[in-house]
Amino acid sequence: MKRIGILTSGGDAPGMNACIRSVVRSALNKGIEVYGFRYGYDGLIGGDYTVMESHSVSNILQKGGTILKSSRSEAFRERQGRKKAMELLKDRAIDGIVVIGGDGTFTGASIFGKEFEIPIIGIPATIDNDLYGTDATIGFDTAVNTALGAIDNIRDTAISHDRVFFIEVMGRSAGHIAINCSIGGGAELVITPEIPISNKEVIEVLSQGRNKMKTSSIVVVAEGNDQMNTYAIAKEVRESLPNLDIRVSTLGHIQRGGRPTSNDRILATRLGNEAVEGLIRGKTSAMVGQVDNKIVFTSFSTVLKGGKTIDYGLKNLVDLMNI
Ligand code: F6P
Repeated sequence: MKRIGILTSGGDAPGMNACIRSVVRSALNKGIEVYGFRYGYDGLIGGDYTVMESHSVSNILQKGGTILKSSRSEAFRERQGRKKAMELLKDRAIDGIVVIGGDGTFTGASIFGKEFEIPIIGIPATIDNDLYGTDATIGFDTAVNTALGAIDNIRDTAISHDRVFFIEVMGRSAGHIAINCSIGGGAELVITPEIPISNKEVIEVLSQGRNKMKTSSIVVVAEGNDQMNTYAIAKEVRESLPNLDIRVSTLGHIQRGGRPTSNDRILATRLGNEAVEGLIRGKTSAMVGQVDNKIVFTSFSTVLKGGKTIDYGLKNLVDLMNI
């Protein structure tokens, strides 16, 4: 390994910069050159890159977003685009690549690795935490803490006005963010795509709360619940419990930005270093993750089969705390 490429792809996540820094400096430590591709796979196809030095990654550890920019590349879905990317890698004598992102990123990487002889290592970075092969993805911890801060603020105003708030959090089709910030934020109820709950049950929980003299309530709803959109749930509850003063708040992209937490910085630095070590040892078409505090490599095909479930114990804990 003399020269590697690095890119960030898909939705950005806090800690991506810490990870870029770690990959660059780990590689430089081993005498390996690093080419940083901008805008994910689009940069690989279009030859949009910069040669990265140690100073290129100075003072980025604490910053949200990604200095390499990101995209969800349409062109890389096409064989033609991937062929162009491979030609560029060959031309620049790049021996391996590190891709930082989520399942879309690894789907592309997996296909690319099957089509062409190029070592690829993936590093999990998405706020959704929906990847098998790692206990946490880079960005998840920060997103949960950001959502938690917002929930705390909303609770203040909910208490002042005796209101019920339905707070929608991100997570694509997974409820990890929702469950974790429900525990931390003391939500009365959490609604996730993985555990269907009828509007009747929601109404029951909220009216029981009122019977127990609760004057305000927080319900956290994970986006991606096809059966029950947050506004639709709130509408039905309003119709059944007209005495409740109900509001909906969608947290949205604030959950994707901001300074990474220490957990995310440490995870990003560790996984970045292990990705480089993995490439040197000949690992390929695999994601590097951390399970039970140990580094593990899991093939892209296994990661992409899915299989990461939500923590049902934590979900039960939300209900248990709501007495
Ligand atoms: O995958 C990260 C994520 O923030 C999801 O939680 C969310 O569903 C999606 O990306 C939003 O994507 P976009 O930024 O393209 O709207």
